[in-house]
Amino acid sequence: MQYINIDKIALTEITKISDPDGRGNLSVIEKDVLPFEIKRVYYLYDVPSDSSRGGHAHKELKQFLIALSGSFDVVLDNGKTRRSITLNRPNKGLLIPSGVWRELENFSAGAVCLSLVSAEYDETDYIRNYDEFKTFEF
Ligand code: TYD
Repeated sequence: MQYINIDKIALTEITKISDPDGRGNLSVIEKDVLPFEIKRVYYLYDVPSDSSRGGHAHKELKQFLIALSGSFDVVLDNGKTRRSITLNRPNKGLLIPSGVWRELENFSAGAVCLSLVSAEYDETDYIRNYDEFKTFEF
């Protein structure tokens, strides 16, 4: 197995336009900002604080996660090491490449996780079994 270097996965800044008259902020992700074409958008919400989402890896799909509201932790695992990154700002995003096991947990009340992804929904791209993930040849 080729281990993805998860230490290189860092929060990236999303353009934020603050209103000069104090009317709040606007963030934008333009075409070509992400290293993939967005083919699908979905979002998680009303996640109980003791629940976890994710618990899978993707063979091909790339994904960009944003905490549009509230906060949650993203645990990344490359089959060898694990690390946890907290998402809690709507102008920061986390790019998760294929070949990385992820678990989303510790959702705050009102948290919304926006997910911009590189492919249409395809269950065959998922690896939902951790033992299978550990032995998969990415
Ligand atoms: P799942 O992948 O288990 O969600 P998460 O990884 O966030 O915990 O998906 C939950 C269900 O929703 C599962 O039956 C597949 C379905 N689903 C779709 O039909 N389309 C989609 O775009 C996504 C992301 C999930």
